[in-house]
Amino acid sequence: MMICVVGLGYVGLPLAIQFPRSSAKVTGLDIDQSKIDQVNRGRSYIKHIASKTVSEVLRAKRLNASTDSSRIKNAEAVIMCVPTPLTKNREPDISFVIKTGTTYPGTTDEN
Ligand SMILES: NC(=O)c1ccc[n+]([C@@H]2O[C@H](COP(=O)([O-])OP(=O)(O)OC[C@H]3O[C@@H](n4cnc5c(N)ncnc54)[C@H](O)[C@@H]3O)[C@@H](O)[C@H]2O)c1
Repeated sequence: MMICVVGLGYVGLPLAIQFPRSSAKVTGLDIDQSKIDQVNRGRSYIKHIASKTVSEVLRAKRLNASTDSSRIKNAEAVIMCVPTPLTKNREPDISFVIKTGTTYPGTTDEN
């Protein structure tokens, strides 16, 4: 099974390295090139995730990371882990979710 995790932050990266334990393959997508580069070099930028764990799933060819949103087309399941910061009224700002949902290929009727 191929799973796509969109947003490799505090939630997305730990999630992306768990699925390969059950033999699923994961493509991690992010707009932050430095995160993509670090993941693809087997480096963790999340304190409680060891780089060793990231490099193990990379070596097993069960994880790859990219800024290329077209990779979402190969996924059987997509998990969105983009930010939802609180507004000044303490309501979630879902603009990142809407942007992701409308700009990724195949996520609207138009593309
Ligand atoms: N961090 C926590 O402890 C925690 C706990 C519970 C729930 N959450 C929720 O989980 C979600 C993700 O939070 P987080 O802490 O992982 O955020 P984060 O800021 O650490 O990571 C979000 C990632 O999404 C990326 N991103 C933004 N727009 C994107 C796009 N269009 N396409 C691809 N990537 C994009 C960012 O570059 C970043 O790497 C939020 O809804 C948050 O409220 C977080």
